[in-house]
Amino acid sequence: MFDQLIPVLPSTAEAPEGRLRIGGVDCGELAAAYGTPLIAYDQAHIEAAARAWLDAFADHPAGATVVYASKAFAAVGMLRLLGELGLGADVSSLGELEAARRAGIDPARIVLHGNNKSRTELAAAVDLRVGLVVVDAASELDLLEELCAAEGAVQPILVRINPDIVVETHQYINTAHAGSKFGVPAVEAATLLERAAASPWLEPRGVHVHLGSQLLDTAPWGRVLGWLAGWALELRERTGIEVHTLDVGGGLGIAYTEDQAPPTPADVARVVRDTLDREWVARGLRLPHLVVEPGRSIVGQAAVTLYRVGVVKDAGDIRYVAVDGGMSDNPRPTLYGAEYRALLAERCHEPASGPWWIAGVHCESGDVLVEDAPLPTPVRGELLAIAATGAYAASMASTYNLVPRCAAVLVGDGTHRPLLRGERLEELFARDVDGG
Ligand code: LLP
Repeated sequence: MFDQLIPVLPSTAEAPEGRLRIGGVDCGELAAAYGTPLIAYDQAHIEAAARAWLDAFADHPAGATVVYASKAFAAVGMLRLLGELGLGADVSSLGELEAARRAGIDPARIVLHGNNKSRTELAAAVDLRVGLVVVDAASELDLLEELCAAEGAVQPILVRINPDIVVETHQYINTAHAGSKFGVPAVEAATLLERAAASPWLEPRGVHVHLGSQLLDTAPWGRVLGWLAGWALELRERTGIEVHTLDVGGGLGIAYTEDQAPPTPADVARVVRDTLDREWVARGLRLPHLVVEPGRSIVGQAAVTLYRVGVVKDAGDIRYVAVDGGMSDNPRPTLYGAEYRALLAERCHEPASGPWWIAGVHCESGDVLVEDAPLPTPVRGELLAIAATGAYAASMASTYNLVPRCAAVLVGDGTHRPLLRGERLEELFARDVDGG
């Protein structure tokens, strides 16, 4: 059981005497200290993943900035850890901007995204002097210019270009096809950069493109950068504007199941560099400074969620084990049909008694975290772990059914410290006007 799941577990995961340990700490100890559900992050895994991104682009001649896509998991402690390693932050809301600020991320390494940024968000970003605002629409450019003029600040920008490319992933996380709500078509991207160039308050640095998420193939980066070379050449010839900065987005996938073999950051870097050499340099275009925005590939596989087993029952042909969380702490199975792997955290080496459906506590049949998980017969009170829950689980958590959101902890070198404490019941009523 355990050995088979190593490809989806955090790098320090081990199971002496069948008990799951992460970062040198027994998961039973973590559950006792913080309660369940609990998202336990392996610090060593995160640091290695972040360094893999930094190393992959370290020798890019025009320099590269690695910004962590904070939407994957935006706890301030996580951002601080990554900031100290040298990463910046990709933020796409006032809340994420504030998390990056509180984490002490160098504003020059903050990239503001969003398909509909508000005046407040743009003003806060300009006020903080973020390194880049990625403009997503013509009206946003006007608003940004107005705010910069009022502040007396010159804001470097990129324009998000929609390359009209469909990549292989879930349709909800595919972002670069024609008709997507993100970015502007190629012709308009050039117009927006020209307009920015004509403004004393905006500094057009280049373009941003994000293909989609959970990509298990590097080819799309090659395709899009090859296509962009022609666009960049035309832009330069027609307007004299050069692409100084090229932000290639995030999107590298992780293994949720043992049969998935994601490329490494070095693989992505190789395709990017090869394409730049072949398509950009060969056309006489200068090598741009690169920005990459990994989220899932840094934190996704670094965590497991620990649940306490409750009801175990047969429902016709299906055998259910219900746990004390569900779609409120991880909506991905319900939302995307996402697949996960599970194990009983205190009996990692026992053979399976058959397939089990892992159900959550919420009042809908779709609240199933894993279908057909091979597990030994679960027993009320024991711990069940679901792997690879570090990205887009806590960050998309809800309080559905008035279930408080769970804690998240960072584990490493035999010690642990909380990143997010569990929500208290009273907090659920803090904004309920009649609830006090
Ligand atoms: N940059 C931009 C502009 C993005 O929109 C995203 C993700 C990223 C970077 C980071 O992508 P990553 O490296 O994490 O794949 N909730 C979905 C994923 C949505 C991704 C949205 N944008 C899920 O749970 O699969």
